[in-house]
Amino acid sequence: MTRRFLFVLGSARADGNTELLARRAAEQLPPDVEQQWIDLSEHPLPDFEDLRHDSDHVRPTEGNVALLLDATLAATDIVIASPLYWYSVSAQTKRYLDHWSGWLRTPGLDFKATLAGRTLWGVTALAHTQPEVADPLVGTLNNSAAYMGMRFGGVLLGNGSKPGDVLNDTEALARAKTYLEQEAPLARFVYED
Ligand SMILES: Cc1cc2nc3c(=O)[nH]c(=O)nc-3n(C[C@H](O)[C@H](O)[C@H](O)COP(=O)(O)O)c2cc1C
Repeated sequence: MTRRFLFVLGSARADGNTELLARRAAEQLPPDVEQQWIDLSEHPLPDFEDLRHDSDHVRPTEGNVALLLDATLAATDIVIASPLYWYSVSAQTKRYLDHWSGWLRTPGLDFKATLAGRTLWGVTALAHTQPEVADPLVGTLNNSAAYMGMRFGGVLLGNGSKPGDVLNDTEALARAKTYLEQEAPLARFVYED
């Protein structure tokens, strides 16, 4: 299957450090690999409404929910590019992941079976210089991938506060060069390690 990467941008500002770092990683992808970039601030999702136990979710056919759903189903590789906000993913990113819960229950989508075996990646920028503070974000993505039966490529971390700062993080830029080339293992819940 031809690889197709979906980059989901979750920052609350344009051209931030997370996007810069994600673009550095994406530059290394071979030209025959398709890339789709969706900025959640340009394509905001509505708050997720939990209908799982009342009625069936219905497949969206228009608007940003349909755009994100179709892009997610079409991707072999999903890159969550979220800045570190309060030690976890941004609200925009979290809302996108919450919609997965509805898509899991939407008849006819086979959402879980479709994503199983595909790969989840993460890119994040943070102001803190100790990368351990991003562990909650890493755990969110790792456990989500494990729940979905997906592979997990880990999280590419870069340091920065104001836009452009991450370009001074030479170690992050070096990691970006090979990040998406890695063979990502099947994700395991943290208690399975
Ligand atoms: C709402 C908010 C919460 C933040 N929380 C954290 C945090 O918990 N830890 C941290 O190191 N930096 C935090 N930061 C700083 C950002 O992670 C940092 O500025 C990063 O470069 C933003 O990424 P961006 O340029 O892609 O938007 C926060 C920034 C904002 C706006």
